[in-house]
Amino acid sequence: MWKFLLLNLVLALTATALDTINISETQGSYGFAVDYQNNQFLLDGQPFRYVSGSFHYFRTPRHYWRDRLRKLRAAGLNAVSTYVEWSLHQPQPDTWMWSGEADLMHFLNLAQEEGLMVLLRPGPYICAERDLGGLPYWLLNRVPDIRFRTNDQRYMGYVTVYLNEVLKKIKPLLRGQGGPIIMVQVENEYGSYSACDIQYMVSLQQLFSHHVGTDALLYTTDGALVKMLQCGVVTGAYATVDFGVYSNVTKAFEIMRIFQPRGPLVNSEFYPGWLTHWGEPFQTVGKRAVKTKLYEMLSVGASVNIYMFYGGTNFGFTSGANGGETFSPQLTSYDYDAPLTEAGDPTPKYFAIRDVIAKYLPMPNLTIPTISPKGDYGPILMESIINLFDPLARTLFGTNQITTTTLPTFESLDLPYGLVLYEAYLPQGGPDSSILHAIATDRALVYVDSHLVSTLSRTQKTSTIPLEQPYGSRIQLLLENQGHLNYGSGMEDFKGLWNVTVNGSPIPQWNVTGFRLNTVKPLRNLESTRSNHGTLNNGPVFLKGEFTIEGKPLDTFLDTTGWGKGVAYINGHNLGRYWPLAGPQMTLYVPAPYLRRGQNELILLELEFVPRTKKMTFVTVPKLGNNTET
Ligand SMILES: *[C@@H]1O[C@H](CO)[C@@H](O)[C@H](O)[C@H]1NC(C)=O
Ligand SMILES: *[C@@H]1O[C@H](CO)[C@@H](O)[C@H](O)[C@H]1NC(C)=O
Ligand SMILES: *[C@@H]1O[C@H](CO)[C@@H](O)[C@H](O)[C@H]1NC(C)=O
Ligand SMILES: *[C@@H]1O[C@H](CO)[C@@H](O)[C@H](O)[C@H]1NC(C)=O
Ligand SMILES: *[C@@H]1O[C@H](CO)[C@@H](O)[C@H](O)[C@H]1NC(C)=O
Ligand SMILES: *[C@@H]1O[C@H](CO)[C@@H](O)[C@H](O)[C@H]1NC(C)=O
Repeated sequence: MWKFLLLNLVLALTATALDTINISETQGSYGFAVDYQNNQFLLDGQPFRYVSGSFHYFRTPRHYWRDRLRKLRAAGLNAVSTYVEWSLHQPQPDTWMWSGEADLMHFLNLAQEEGLMVLLRPGPYICAERDLGGLPYWLLNRVPDIRFRTNDQRYMGYVTVYLNEVLKKIKPLLRGQGGPIIMVQVENEYGSYSACDIQYMVSLQQLFSHHVGTDALLYTTDGALVKMLQCGVVTGAYATVDFGVYSNVTKAFEIMRIFQPRGPLVNSEFYPGWLTHWGEPFQTVGKRAVKTKLYEMLSVGASVNIYMFYGGTNFGFTSGANGGETFSPQLTSYDYDAPLTEAGDPTPKYFAIRDVIAKYLPMPNLTIPTISPKGDYGPILMESIINLFDPLARTLFGTNQITTTTLPTFESLDLPYGLVLYEAYLPQGGPDSSILHAIATDRALVYVDSHLVSTLSRTQKTSTIPLEQPYGSRIQLLLENQGHLNYGSGMEDFKGLWNVTVNGSPIPQWNVTGFRLNTVKPLRNLESTRSNHGTLNNGPVFLKGEFTIEGKPLDTFLDTTGWGKGVAYINGHNLGRYWPLAGPQMTLYVPAPYLRRGQNELILLELEFVPRTKKMTFVTVPKLGNNTET
């Protein structure tokens, strides 16, 4: 261990001597570098320090990118940090997406127009509380025994293709070329990953360096612990740390100094809030603590990136899950208790941070943001359209049914997300009451003879249930992928049913149908049907409601209180999962660009429970749990 530490020290010192910048040489031309002698950054040859904010373009509609960037700038921030999400840009091995909501270049250009430098974090792994930490799900079906985040050549083959594509694209926007990107992160908190494959980091650094050269600074970010930096740092990338309000600033930077003896101090992720999982209280961080720690860091000359300054939303099925002892899927909201709310509104924390920054950086002459008006569109009556298990719904939404002896995973069905229905006949002639054993990743509703009997849950560790349905003949298991793991070891997170037995015996044959649920267009021509409220014993139901907006649409929140668990779509946009039974998130953020003047359409796929009123309401204030602002 000590030998290893010494080696790192020697490497870092060598880098110091080689990289020393002649200030007068770079003055007047574009560039970004480290001035090791004076422990500072140099932007275009001038001493520079950043206070940056994290804002992920993939968590807010493109329409709002400029608005949010301007609000960052108005708080005095001079840089924005974003991850690049591999799975968004390469949804299939032969498909690339770089336009519309995936127009990274547009986002970077807007940042520059709004007076912000950029800290770019292209991964390939990003965590970010996103599905599979930003890695595309298809890696799991192309290479089922893949070893993520290692020098596994099959993984590295795909990584190389992706990084070549993204790094070639962003090259003209690097600072050395006159663009806004000053720093490019290699991997992401790699020191927290158990593999600790140094050769992997060396290969990545070479790939990044090949494209970035000296046009921007490569860097790494790790938790402020020696054992993390040992696995996370790599020669040729500037080593930085990340920590929140509960850490000792002096101590954290002392640890950074072991690996980065000279150069500016950097906290690459300072947490002004925190993430929340379904079923736990909404996580908050007090504004006073944020103010005190930010002040402390800026007073010792550090550069800081605030993670998140603006969190946004995990629209659709993009949220991930944490693992370890308990499987914990992330909320749809990524409000994060950040200085700007999910709807982009300033909070008292925003102004507290602005006050601190104003002591250290010149403030821009920009209008102070205010809370935007919200639409109060009231209650909408939701009418049932069709049951998901109805033959017509299967035709419209399902993959072709397959009959098989082995249970396929989502990945082997090439389903990135959604639901899979597994159906079989129960063995006959057994006892009246049977025991079902099945391990579900992640959650399965269990029906016997079209009657909901129980739920299998990875989170609750429920894998054995009695089937108290005498003479039951047919079993249906509707499995939900609640988001692939985004963090920790064992991220090769296949979604499926494992080791299924009834009274200890396997079931010989299954019918399997997948539901991708990426679109609700097929409902367009269906009429509403009469149906009951209460527990949905016979399977999930699509419901539709219509409402009219007069005048310009405004942001609003869909209040799901009283309903069970499901997915909501507005005018075809998937707002994400809702789950008021678990909480703490009760409302889904509805951005104005998803609405239109005149008639609008809300569609739900409700899995479990329809309240008696059959109404969902649009409200002006979000309900995310206990927000105890201090
Ligand atoms: C720095 O650059 C200037 C101008 O090119 C040159 O005169 C000077 O010798 C350089 N100093 C060092 C230390 O390289
Ligand atoms: C913070 O860490 C420094 C350096 O390790 C130590 O001297 C100081 O006592 C710590 N402060 C607190 C409040 O623990
Ligand atoms: C709200 O706070 C109370 C008391 O701290 C706690 O018991 C409850 O679980 C919280 N509710 C939510 C939705 O976070
Ligand atoms: C600030 O901006 C306003 C509006 O654009 C302008 O009128 C004013 O002169 C500016 N003030 C300074 C100090 O630049
Ligand atoms: C499986 O599908 C076949 C063909 O549609 C059907 O005859 C059979 O009843 C199905 N089995 C179950 C358990 O639903
Ligand atoms: C299924 O059972 C086998 C054999 O008992 C066991 O090795 C395996 O870990 C089980 N799978 C899961 C997902 O628990």
